[in-house]
Amino acid sequence: MRHSFSQIIVSVLFVAKVQCSCDYGTRSYPREAAIPEPKFGYDGLQGPLNWAALDAEVNVLCRTGTHQSPINLVAANVTMDAGSAYKLTIPDTAGSEFENLGTTVEVIVNGTLETAIKKYTMAQFHFHTPSEHQVNGEYFPMESHFVFEAEDQSKAVVSFLIGIGTNDPLLGTVLPSVDKIATVGTTTMTPPLSFAALQTHFSENTVFRYIGSLTTPPCSESVDWIISSKPLTVDAATFEATKKIIGYNSRYTQGDIGSANLLDNAVKVATAA
Ligand SMILES: *[C@@H]1O[C@H](CO)[C@@H](O)[C@H](O)[C@H]1NC(C)=O
Ligand SMILES: *[C@@H]1O[C@H](CO)[C@@H](O)[C@H](O)[C@H]1NC(C)=O
Ligand SMILES: [Zn+2]
Repeated sequence: MRHSFSQIIVSVLFVAKVQCSCDYGTRSYPREAAIPEPKFGYDGLQGPLNWAALDAEVNVLCRTGTHQSPINLVAANVTMDAGSAYKLTIPDTAGSEFENLGTTVEVIVNGTLETAIKKYTMAQFHFHTPSEHQVNGEYFPMESHFVFEAEDQSKAVVSFLIGIGTNDPLLGTVLPSVDKIATVGTTTMTPPLSFAALQTHFSENTVFRYIGSLTTPPCSESVDWIISSKPLTVDAATFEATKKIIGYNSRYTQGDIGSANLLDNAVKVATAA
């Protein structure tokens, strides 16, 4: 089918808008505006097995992409780098907006990430329960994604797996406010946030690195994943309270990077009979 030039322009704009309104990237709605209704979910026909069908054109990579995230991180399949090879800078805040998007809870914070070749800026970080990535087949109670975008629109995500232990200074300041945003679309302000300990944790530990995708629709690829190999921790009560509000919001682990998309493969197997 041929598309007219104006149709192509409209769909390009639509892609940009969808990327802005999901949990990744720069957000398109003004701070005072209402949080948009979630466009996808984590179970049934709203869930990851059916994301491509929720918007067949925009979300096509969710069922055909061959570099999809999350994955099971095994040493043979990822690059190990020193965290200090990346410069993560997140200025402290006097308090930040904390929002319930329905698909996750996110904190609105500015920051920058510098790799050897690119400078990215960040607009938010958010949480998944349980973790999306695994390490040698082990999953973690939570994972937090700090989502960055460069001027050329390419994306990078700095990720922290989160286990159970004592409260990390940043997470122990943010997450106790989660019960104030129990309802989808609500927001609150966190206490003042300091990112000093997080930056130190990141730079002092090895990171896993690979090129994958967004873990939510539209599942866009060429995302530079940089995952701290050392999990952060929160205490059990903080984890339980957070899990109660977020619910289950983790995409299933995808196939090996570069191999067949698992959904594409399932269709082929099912129709080959
Ligand atoms: C690592 O990736 C290769 C393909 O690149 C694959 O054959 C192998 O099974 C993967 N290893 C693990 C442990 O997943
Ligand atoms: C982030 O930076 C932009 C541009 O400098 C500014 O307009 C915005 O208010 C900042 N947002 C936060 C949450 O600090
Ligand atoms: Zn995420």
